[in-house]
Amino acid sequence: MKTKRCILTLLAVCLVMAVSAQSDMNKFVDQLLQKMTLEEKLGQLNLAPASDEIVTGGNVDTEVGARIASGQLGGVFNLKGVDKIKALQDIAVKKSRLGIPLIVGMDVIHGYETIFPIPLALSCSWDLAAIENMARVSAREATADGINWVYSPMVDISLDARWGRVAESGGEDPFLGSQIAQAYVRGYQGDQYDTDRVMACVKHYGLYGAVEGGRDYNTVDMSHLRMYNQYFPPYKAAAEAGAGSFMSSFNLVDGQHATANRWLLTDVLRNQWNFNGFVVTDYGSIGEMTNHGFGNLKQNSVKALKAGTDMDMCSNGFIGTLAESLKDGSVTMADIDLACRRVLEAKYKLGLFDNPYRYLDAKRRARDIYTDEHRAMSRQLATETFVLLKNEHQTLPLKKQGKIALIGPLANDRANIAGTWCVAYTPERYQTIKEGMEQALAGKAQLLYAQGCNLTRDAALQEAAEFGKHIPRVDEAKAKAEALAVAKEADVIVCAMGESAEFSGESSSRATLEMPDVQRELLEALVALGKPVVLLNFSGRATVLSWEQAHVDAIMNVWFAGSEAGRAIADVLFGDVAPSGHLTVTMPRALGQVPIYYNHLNTGRPVAEGADRYQKFASNYLEERNDPLYPFGYGLTYTTFNYGKLNLSSDHMAKSGSVEAVLTVGNTGNCEADEVVQLYIRDLVADVSRPVKELKGFQRIHLKAGEQREVKFTITPDMLQYYDINGNIVQGDGEFDIMVGSNSRDVISTRLVVN
Ligand code: NOJ
Repeated sequence: MKTKRCILTLLAVCLVMAVSAQSDMNKFVDQLLQKMTLEEKLGQLNLAPASDEIVTGGNVDTEVGARIASGQLGGVFNLKGVDKIKALQDIAVKKSRLGIPLIVGMDVIHGYETIFPIPLALSCSWDLAAIENMARVSAREATADGINWVYSPMVDISLDARWGRVAESGGEDPFLGSQIAQAYVRGYQGDQYDTDRVMACVKHYGLYGAVEGGRDYNTVDMSHLRMYNQYFPPYKAAAEAGAGSFMSSFNLVDGQHATANRWLLTDVLRNQWNFNGFVVTDYGSIGEMTNHGFGNLKQNSVKALKAGTDMDMCSNGFIGTLAESLKDGSVTMADIDLACRRVLEAKYKLGLFDNPYRYLDAKRRARDIYTDEHRAMSRQLATETFVLLKNEHQTLPLKKQGKIALIGPLANDRANIAGTWCVAYTPERYQTIKEGMEQALAGKAQLLYAQGCNLTRDAALQEAAEFGKHIPRVDEAKAKAEALAVAKEADVIVCAMGESAEFSGESSSRATLEMPDVQRELLEALVALGKPVVLLNFSGRATVLSWEQAHVDAIMNVWFAGSEAGRAIADVLFGDVAPSGHLTVTMPRALGQVPIYYNHLNTGRPVAEGADRYQKFASNYLEERNDPLYPFGYGLTYTTFNYGKLNLSSDHMAKSGSVEAVLTVGNTGNCEADEVVQLYIRDLVADVSRPVKELKGFQRIHLKAGEQREVKFTITPDMLQYYDINGNIVQGDGEFDIMVGSNSRDVISTRLVVN
C-alpha cells in the first residue's frame, strides 16, 4: 500500500515537472517569436547543406557566413568537426540579431567513425539491446564531433529487393521494425538530451519503401488498410518513443506528395500518434513537387507548410517564397509561427538556448571517437548479423590448419566492407578480411590470396557501383588463372564476393539480383575444382542465390558489417563465435518473385506451402515455385536446435484475457550458440483479409551444448488486433493459429480460440 502511494506520488511529481518544463518552453518560445521578424522566422525554416570546404582555417565561406548572420539559416547538415561547426555557431550566436543557435544535422546511419553493420544487417541480429547501444555509441561519437541531430532511424518497411535502400531499413516486418525503431530512438536520444545524445529524425515518412519497381523517387500507391497494418507501425512506434523529428519522404501518398500531404503529416502523425516534434523535408522535396505536376516552387511551398512541414531541406522554397505568399494571403502568419515554433522547440529541447556550445567540446574527439570499447562493440554486434544460409558437411567453422585460399574482389578490400553511407569513415584504419583472417590464424594455417576477378565485367557499372570505394580493375583472364592456381593448392576455398557497398543505398536500385556475371563465372570455376567452397556473400539487400545454394557447400551472408567487419568475419569463419543472425528479408529464388515477403495475404486458389510443381488455375508461376529460397527469420548456426511440443495454458482465451504459449528448445549439437525463437500468429477469419502469418514475439536465447530451456510467450489481446480501413483498431476474435519456430517457415502450430 505504502509502496503504491510512493509510486503515485513520484508519478505526480514527474508529471508536474514535465508540465512545468513544457510551460517554460512555451513561454520562452512565445517571447522569442514576438521578437522575430518575418525574415528571421522564415530563416528558421531553412536548412542548407554544408561541406568541409565552407570552413577553412577558421574562416567561414563569406556567403554562408552572411546567410547565418542575417538569420536566414535555421540549421546546416553534413558538416563535421567541432572547430568547423563552432565557427558557424559563433556567427549564429554572436552576429545574428537574436543569436538563435543552429541545429546541426548529419546522416549518421550506422555509426559514425566507429561504423556498425548496415541497418539491414543490424536488424538480422534481432538484438534490440545491442541496436540501442549502437545508436547510443553513434550519438556519443557524433556529438563529440559537434553534431546534434541525426537523419536516422530509417524505418521504411521494405519488401522489394530491387530497391537499394533496403540496406538502410530494418527489413520487411512491421512488428520487428517497430521494436527496432524504438531501440534506435532510445539509443540516440536517451531520456533527455544529454550532451552525448542527439535528436533522432525518423524517415522517410511515409511509405517510401513501397516505391514501384523498387526504383528510387518513384510513385507509391496503396490502400489505407495496408498502410495502417503493414507500413505505418514502425513510424508510429518511433513517434511514441518520443522521436524529436520526422523527415517527409520523396514519394506520393494518395496522389499527394508526402511533403504536402496534410492527412499524413498532421491528421495521422500529429493527431493520431501525438507526435510533437518537427517535420523536415527530404533533400529538395518541395522543389521536386514540380516534377510530380503540382505547380511551381511558390505553390508547393504553400502546400507543404499548410500540410505540416516545418523545415525545408535545400529547396529554398520557404525562405524564397513564403513572404510573398503571406502577402497574397495563401499562408497566414499563424502557419509560419507554428512551423517556426516547432523548430525553436527542438533547439530548446536540445538545450541549445541554454548553451549553444554544449555539443562543441573539442576535448571529446580524442576521448569518445573510434575508441577500443566502441570498436569491440561493433565487432561483437557484427558477428550477430551474419546469416549462415547453408553449411553442408559442416564446412564451417574452418579449422585453423592446412592451406586456405581466400578469393574474390571483396577479400582484400577495406573501403567497401564497412557499407554504404559512412559519413565519417576512415577506411585506412580498417582491416580487410584477409588481414582479419591472417590475424586470427596467427601462422597456424597458410592463407593464400587472389582477387580473382573484377566486381563487374562492365567497367562503367563497376565505377558507378563504387562511388569512390574502389576495387582494383584487373585483367580478367589473368586474374582468373591466378585464382585457380591458388585454389588448386588449397584445402578449402573461401570466396568473398557479391555486391560492393554502393550497389545499395540511395539511388542504387537493381534490375537483377544475381551475383554479377564475372564473379559467378569465377565461382563456378572454383566449385568445379571439387574442393570445399565457402561463399561469403556481400549484399545490401536480399539477393538471388539459387545457383549458389545448389552448388556451394557453405554460404554466409555477411552484408556490410562496418569498420570491424574484417575481424568479425574471421571470428565467425573460424568458430570463435557461432553465427546467430536471422533474415529480416525474405530471399527469393528468382527476381520474378519480387516483391516476396512472409506476411502476405492468402490468395484465391493458393498452392500448398513448398509446392514444387506448377498447377493450372492455381496462384503460381509457370517456371518457378512460390516459396522463397530462404524464408524470413531463417538462419543456421554451428549447432542444431530442437523445438519440443508447443503447449498453450488454455486453448480458449477471453477477449481481454491472456494465454501462455510454452515450449522447450534444446541445443542438440556440440557448441554453444544463440537462437532466435519466433512467435507467429494467424487470424483465420476476420472482417478484412489477414496475413498468413505475423510475427508477434521473439526471444534471443543462448544455449550451451546439450542445454534445454523452456521458452514462454504470453499471448495478449494486442497481438490479435488489426486496423480497419479508417485506422481504427479492431479486436480480433475467433480462431487463431499460434506458431513458434526458428524461422517463419519451419514452425510448430497449435490452435487458439478467442471469444
Ligand atoms: C536524401 C535521403 O533520401 C535522406 O535519407 C537523407 O537523410 C537526406 N538526403 C539528407 O542527406
